[in-house]
Amino acid sequence: MTTRLGVNIDHVATLRQARSGQEPEPVMAALLAQSAGAHGITVHLRADRRHIQERDVRLLREVLSVPLNVECAASPDTLESVVPLKPHWVTLVPETREELTTQGGLDVIFIQGHLRSVIRELRSSDIRVSLFIDPQLDQVKMASRIEADAVEFNTGVYADLPAGADPTPELDRLRESARLAARLGLKVLAGHGLNLRNVGPVAAIPEIFELNIGHSIVGRAVLVGLDRAVQEMLGAIAEARA
Ligand code: PXP
Repeated sequence: MTTRLGVNIDHVATLRQARSGQEPEPVMAALLAQSAGAHGITVHLRADRRHIQERDVRLLREVLSVPLNVECAASPDTLESVVPLKPHWVTLVPETREELTTQGGLDVIFIQGHLRSVIRELRSSDIRVSLFIDPQLDQVKMASRIEADAVEFNTGVYADLPAGADPTPELDRLRESARLAARLGLKVLAGHGLNLRNVGPVAAIPEIFELNIGHSIVGRAVLVGLDRAVQEMLGAIAEARA
């Protein structure tokens, strides 16, 4: 079975917000990605609403036939906005206003009590919960203990390795963490910084169920169109699994 591809369309909304207007329409992008073969759509509802807005999440939930995953901080304000929108999945991420993009995974051990109650709240609203974590065994064990449904491994460290650096240690960390997570019954996802050049070795990890990829697909879509950008990524993932 091939690894599923979740397409993150945040940066379609980034472009729209650059003029505070109505174009390009992220909902249209999501539908195009879906018809090009994306298995899921992801958006990040940030506290500062710098790209995706509540209105986008509401419309996406209505029109998509693939699952919608909303990334957000585990903060009361954000959750108050997200829960009524009823996405299929919520991925809890660390978030600071200053960052350009998500920096590192959640420290699940440090905030286990808070996360446990957030997971309960989301699951009681029929929303499944994934935790964005670094590929570390103790974080995986805690994610399982506090009853997350899934973990998404941060591939940012792997993706940001300088040219010529040996990726083996970081890939080994991802492989071992994925193996443990699957053994504990967690669904296993991964993402951050993946592109056509570096996706292969991550997509080849058998326990990984889905990859969440945004920036490189939307960036490529500006040049070759979203349909082709999604299909190229699906092709690269399928090739890695073959
Ligand atoms: N997964 C998570 C948790 C993220 O925060 C992001 C970025 O929004 C991604 C995956 C996708 O990362 P990229 O845009 O670098 O593909």
